[in-house]
Amino acid sequence: KQSYYTENYRPQFHFSPERQWMNDPNGMVYYNGEYHLFYQYHPNGITWGPMHWGHAVSKDLIHWEQLPIALAPDEHGMIFSGSAVVDWNDTSGFFDGKSGLVAIFTHADTYPNSDSPRQRQSLAYSKDNGRTWEKYEGNPVLTDESITDFRDPKVFWHKETNQWVMVLAAGQTVRLYTSPNLKDWDFASEFGENQGSHQGVWECPDLFELAVDGNPNHKKWVLFVSIGDNPAYEEGSRTQYFIGSFDGKTFTNEYAPEETLWVDKGRDNYAGVSWSDIPQEDGRRIYVGWMSNWKYANVIPTKEWRGAMTIPRVLSLKTTKDGIRLVQTPVKELQVIRDKAIFLNSEIITPNENILSNELGNQLEIIAEFELDTATVFGFKVCKSAYEETIIGYDTEKREMFIDRTKSGDSSFHESFVGVHNGNLVPQDNKVKFHIFVDWSSVEVFGNEGELVITDLIFPSPESNQIELYAKGGKVKLNSLELYMLKSIWSK
Ligand code: FRU
Repeated sequence: KQSYYTENYRPQFHFSPERQWMNDPNGMVYYNGEYHLFYQYHPNGITWGPMHWGHAVSKDLIHWEQLPIALAPDEHGMIFSGSAVVDWNDTSGFFDGKSGLVAIFTHADTYPNSDSPRQRQSLAYSKDNGRTWEKYEGNPVLTDESITDFRDPKVFWHKETNQWVMVLAAGQTVRLYTSPNLKDWDFASEFGENQGSHQGVWECPDLFELAVDGNPNHKKWVLFVSIGDNPAYEEGSRTQYFIGSFDGKTFTNEYAPEETLWVDKGRDNYAGVSWSDIPQEDGRRIYVGWMSNWKYANVIPTKEWRGAMTIPRVLSLKTTKDGIRLVQTPVKELQVIRDKAIFLNSEIITPNENILSNELGNQLEIIAEFELDTATVFGFKVCKSAYEETIIGYDTEKREMFIDRTKSGDSSFHESFVGVHNGNLVPQDNKVKFHIFVDWSSVEVFGNEGELVITDLIFPSPESNQIELYAKGGKVKLNSLELYMLKSIWSK
């Protein structure tokens, strides 16, 4: 295995499959000390093709063990996205009164004697910690012939009403269904008409409850809905979210601002969903997204494999001056891969000098706090050489944090890859904070403790490994900097 994961562009601390094509994360569930990550997988090519569920497990969310394919196409078709749960009380009857894992996924084929696509929901179960799976003989368990796009079931146990709840993408809405046993599903409600963005087909929903400002007595439900690529919009595929309430049947959007709420302001975080069954003592809601975009996913310039996941992120809600908003932070487990470190305090950064000129690396974690001064733009340039750079910066006039990948490396594979991606970030006490992860072919930046996140792929040459701390138009004060070189998760 060690000869893998050294190829050009290969992520060193993000999950990517050893070989071939990967898209959405699927079936994420924690059980018996292991985080399971399944994923949309095409084992016979590096472009999208007949979908399987690939599989990996981790004890710490950081180091992954690759396992054999969990689910392969069968007489009902390909295996599209879906979820997995622990059936603690054997409501399904699959486990002889014990507990076990049940996967709920979309079977995708075509109607008999026709080319029209058909999507139906099915089950598989595992009695051996996800190592082997049996498809349920009663598949499919949920069908609706009146709709074509009908997929990506995310299931959870709703204790207040003592039943399973499924949130499912249905064209340009999501539908909710309920069940006592995962096999029989009743329609409960539909959400989404005239709400949020309808720039593309709705996919990969998730629905979960989070505390607001860490207060366990003030909780809200969050609905994630990914929307597919539409050639008319340059952003491509991306994920929106809604905040509201849920009574076991109906989700109510309690806060409907004019603009859509986006999970990420970069281009490469799609189809993200959260882990099921993380123990209550832990209490975190953790997710990963697929770090790509349907606009160009099939043509990004990797050869041996295509696709990686974001780093795992903790989700929470925070009251801001605009209302309640989603906040994302890197999981603390990532600290185990920290290697060589540099700490700086109270430095004045001026144009035309680079206090990081001695540092080289492209597996980086950077935590920095700046105090605004006369500089109009400041931040970091990474994966830099005489001919390439990726800029992560803050524009004080626009009050925007951004990633500029215009000169980040190879972009020849798609005309809309180059660009600058930004989001609003209001300084707090005249300060802004960056938390950045750079890995051979990606940049993730968390602004002000995760109020704003920008995730972008980049394809720099491996020699572009310089780092610059820069200011333009004046000076800026660096209150503190932690710069870590990160270890690869794939080497022993
Ligand atoms: C999202 C998606 C899902 C579908 C899967 C197929 O990226 O289009 O809606 O289940 O990918 O691979």
